[in-house]
This record gives sequence, structure tokens and C-alpha cells, in this order.
Amino acid sequence: MRILFLTSELFHFVKTGGLADVAKALPLELSHRGHELRIMLPCYSKINNWSSLPIVAELSLDNAPNSDRISFRVRESRLGNITVWLIEHEYYFNRNNLYAENNVAYPDNGERFAFFSAACLQTVQHLDFRPDIVHCNDWHTALTPMLLKTKYRSSEYFSNTKSVLTVHNGAFQGIFDRSQLWMLPDIAHSNNDNITHGYANINYLKAGVFYADKINAVSPSYAEELTTFLGGHGMAQNYMARINDLCGIVNGCDYSDWDPLVDKNIPFHFSIEHQGNKSLCKYLLQEITSLPICDVPVFGMVCRLTAQKGINLLIPILNDFLQHRVQLILIGTGEPELESTLTKISQEHPDKFVFKSLYDNDLAHLIEAGADFFLMPSLFEPCGLNQMYSLAYGTLPIVRAVGGLKDTIIHYDEDRENATGFIFFEPEPNALLTCLRRVLIFYLQEPEELQRLRDNAMRIRYEWKNSAEEYEIMYYSALQK
Ligand code: GLC
Repeated sequence: MRILFLTSELFHFVKTGGLADVAKALPLELSHRGHELRIMLPCYSKINNWSSLPIVAELSLDNAPNSDRISFRVRESRLGNITVWLIEHEYYFNRNNLYAENNVAYPDNGERFAFFSAACLQTVQHLDFRPDIVHCNDWHTALTPMLLKTKYRSSEYFSNTKSVLTVHNGAFQGIFDRSQLWMLPDIAHSNNDNITHGYANINYLKAGVFYADKINAVSPSYAEELTTFLGGHGMAQNYMARINDLCGIVNGCDYSDWDPLVDKNIPFHFSIEHQGNKSLCKYLLQEITSLPICDVPVFGMVCRLTAQKGINLLIPILNDFLQHRVQLILIGTGEPELESTLTKISQEHPDKFVFKSLYDNDLAHLIEAGADFFLMPSLFEPCGLNQMYSLAYGTLPIVRAVGGLKDTIIHYDEDRENATGFIFFEPEPNALLTCLRRVLIFYLQEPEELQRLRDNAMRIRYEWKNSAEEYEIMYYSALQK
């Protein structure tokens, strides 16, 4: 199949979250399986050396009312053996960041990604890559299925092209005033209430869910949750209307980046057979985070600081938890209020709790390698990747029973034999605290069981190969529509 993969971030180029990891690993696996791919990405000025990439096209958006404002260039790069086309537009993408600065979204994000979605389809025609499948990801590229079914409805070029939409995070929908869509007047003036939000706004994700030929969430449980009032982020009815075309495909883990035996980001390597160096990673982690170097249980957490990640379940119980002989290391950036609360608590417990407001890839790897447990108390979690990385490093995940966390971790209380971690259920601080205390007792009293769980965890593999097979099945069923 010829697959056009549209994404707003791509690992090695630019990353703010898990989407970037998936956008790298899935296309590489599909290409490895013999499909022909192109990846398209905005040419953000954050991308290293973007300006030295060769220019392969200079175009301007057709049918737009004011064409001189939307001339654009296409630059070419590579990811493995896949060609990556980057859409360059000085005004839209030459900014300090991808979507926001100082936690405030750029006010014209709707316009920027409407432009990107339209520019991608025009580019592939010009460079003559006629896709069988256009694979869109999240709201940023969710207008593309609609363009295929409206603007390009009678285009000969796309007559055999089908679209699929992957929902990595349904809480972000891209809801924008119609005026932001001035360059796509058909969408701007649409009265289709399946894609609007109130009268004044267009909801990009709704457009994707309504028009894509097939839709998937990044885990089976999240796909199910999306169809419920509680888990659908206000779009349960939209997902319900597409229930026959909606499935869940759990992400894989990219073991070329996350394998403790060859990980370039950590100095001491280990594997299931030789785990001795894991404790060296732990001591190094304690050293570089300025914690006392000793044998207390270390809990790690790496996440965006948003409500989604369950920080509000952790904060109320932190003081209680830190009464015990434990260490907790949390890194991540996000909501300023959460950052300042966490900073304050960490100053009160300097020998037990380290909070760093940053995302540092090396440190993230060392936390996965050196911690004993990894915390993910998410309120919702479409898939989650860190728990898979944790498994690979024998760092037992402590997670809430939602979405992909529920699908990838085997709870000690439910299946002792095969357990790989611990799960709590209610989205309540006390449920988390109870679970943490239970894990502490487990750590202190059952070292052999702990070792057995580590071995279980390190044995589990979430290979991209299996997920890619499921994506192929989804693509084929889209083609049959
Ligand atoms: C989003 C989700 C996360 C998922 C990732 C990749 O970041 O929040 O759960 O793992 O996308 O699909």
C-alpha cells in the first residue's frame, strides 16, 4: 500500500509527547513490511538544520481567497528509508514552539493546521505520490478526511484514496472560530452539526471522526471509553455514530530506543539475565538528582504536568507518602500552578522528593532504568508509553485502571503468576495512597516476589510488528469501503 502519514510531531525532528514516538515507529515498521510511505510534518524552526534541507517544491494553496499569503515550500528529509516532506511556511511555523508558548496556545492554531492539512494534499499531487491511505493523527490533521470527501470529492487523483484517523488524545479536539478557516471556505461555512461546536466554531476532531473511513484509538479500552459519557470528552455520541468503524490498537514500544542492554542514554547496561547494573543506575540517579544514595525504594514519574496525568491525585497525598522511607523523582513541564505546588513540596522534603520542571531525554531514560517503581496515576490514558518503557527496564508500573494502562499492565491482585505491576481503580487520592503503601510493604517484605515481577515485566514485549499488523487490517478494511 502507499500510505501518507500526516503528523504534527515526529521523533528525532520534534517531540512534545507520545505522538512523536508513534509517528516514528509505526511508519518505520510499515515500511519494513513492504509498504511505501511518506511522512509529512510542519517545518518548524525548532527542527535542527531545517534550513539546509533541500527544497523539492514551491507551491501556493489553490482555491484560497488570498493566495499570496499562503505560498509555501516543501523540504525533504529522511527517517530511515522513508522520505519525509516538511511544509515550510515562515509565518505559521517559524516560531519558538510547536503549539504554545508559556503554556498559552498560539491563537491561530486553527489556521495553522487547516493550512497544513490542505497543503499536504496539494503537495502529494504535485510530487505525485498517490496514496491508497491517508493516515491522520489527532485534531491537527483531522480536517484532511473531510477535505478528501468534500473539496476533492470528484478529484480523479484521489479517487481510490481512503483515510483513517488515529485518536491519540481525544481531550484535545481543536475547536476554533470559523474565521480561522478562511482558506477553506467550504468548511468555514459548513452547517453540518456533526463537525461544529456551537454555531461559531468548527471542531476539527469531530470532522475527522465524521469523515474518516476508519477510526482507531491507541488502545482497545480507550476506544471503548470514548463511546461513554464519562470517557468521551464530550464526543461520545460522535464516536457512537461511528462504532462500526472504530477500533482500538495498542501502541508498540520502540525497543531500538528503549532497551536497557543497549540504551545509549544510560552508562550502565543490564538485561533480564544480568540485572546487577540496575542498582548502579539507581545510585547514579540518586547522585545526579542530589538525593541520599541508599537502598530505599525509588519511585519515578515522567509526564506532562496536566490534569490528565493524575497530578491532582498525587499532590494531596504527597506529604503523607513522604513520611515513609522513600524517594520520588518527578520530571515534566506543564501547568504553572502544578509546577509551583510541586516545587514547594520538594523544597519541604529535599532528601525525599525531587521535582524538575523540564523534559530531559537522558534523565527520562535514567529514571526508567534506575527507579524501582514508575508512577502513572492518570485520570485517562489513551495508551501511555512510559509504562511499556518501565516494563522493559524492570521498573514496576503503578497505574490507574484506565485506557492503555489497563490494557498493558497485569495487576498483582488479579493474576499473581503473570503480574507485571500494580493497579488502583478509583480516581481518588486515597486510592493512590493505599496502593503506594501496599507496594511499599511488598518491597520491604517480599523481595523475592518483587524480583519475580521484575522478571515478568522484562519478559513482556509490546512489539510494533503486532500493532502494525492491526493497522494493516484497518487499512484494508478502509480500502474496502
Ligand atoms: C498521547 C496520549 C498517550 C499515547 C500517545 C501516543 O500522548 O496521551 O496516552 O500513548 O499519545 O499514542
